[in-house]
Amino acid sequence: MTEPQTTSQTPEHPRAIRSFVLRQGHMTAAQQRAIDTLWPRYGLDYRAENLDLAQTFGRAAPKVLEIGFGMGTATAEIARRLPDTDFLAADVHGPGVGNLLKLIEEQGIANIRVMRHDAVEIVENMLADNSLDGIHIFFPDPWHKKRHHKRRLIQAPFVAKLLPKLKSGGYIHLATDWEEYAAQMLDVLRAFPGLENTAEGYAPTPAYRPETKFEARGKRLGHGVWDLVFKKR
Ligand SMILES: C[S@@+](CC[C@H](N)C(=O)[O-])C[C@H]1O[C@@H](n2cnc3c(N)ncnc32)[C@H](O)[C@@H]1O
Repeated sequence: MTEPQTTSQTPEHPRAIRSFVLRQGHMTAAQQRAIDTLWPRYGLDYRAENLDLAQTFGRAAPKVLEIGFGMGTATAEIARRLPDTDFLAADVHGPGVGNLLKLIEEQGIANIRVMRHDAVEIVENMLADNSLDGIHIFFPDPWHKKRHHKRRLIQAPFVAKLLPKLKSGGYIHLATDWEEYAAQMLDVLRAFPGLENTAEGYAPTPAYRPETKFEARGKRLGHGVWDLVFKKR
């Protein structure tokens, strides 16, 4: 087996280690149509400049960033359960972007905006400090093989970039079906004195989080599920 190649290397970051590999993936006609017709209304293009979240959503309401929404089914459900919160949802996977746009339209959801870009760069270049009330990262790619662990999203350097974006009292909610990654997540978050665990170790799954597509797949394979919810002091 050869190492996967990233297809999104930029001249500025020639050897950046990405947390994803861009695969073609099958885009259905309906997903493509959703991108073509709904992107202007619910999509946000990446720009390396500060994003005004209140202006983007047209209201002053709590703002949550979701990284890696996959097909977006849980994202849409959470947005419906929490209509008074706005969700900025980022993924790089085209069919998933189309699917979430389709769900937004079908379900008449007003509180989601979608980005199709590396969330690491969104965090680095578009989000102001103290701008988020919450961060959701559900079932990030576990990168099982040891030589790929460097691609895992939840590592101290990225969490160090994320934390300033959270307001004091804001939360970070992670979930995984891979026990060893769950332990790594707990170690990483616990090492930040600015974060407080809301549970003894792993947290009960909060009521707003439905089962995600990736979680259902893990359960079929006999995997467990671990949620972590930490608050910023
Ligand atoms: C294993 S899937 C989980 C999807 C979904 N949260 C679920 O539970 O069904 C992880 C997702 O994270 C996305 N992803 C990985 N790294 C990312 C990054 N840096 N920025 C945005 N999305 C990313 C992948 O494209 C993929 O859709």
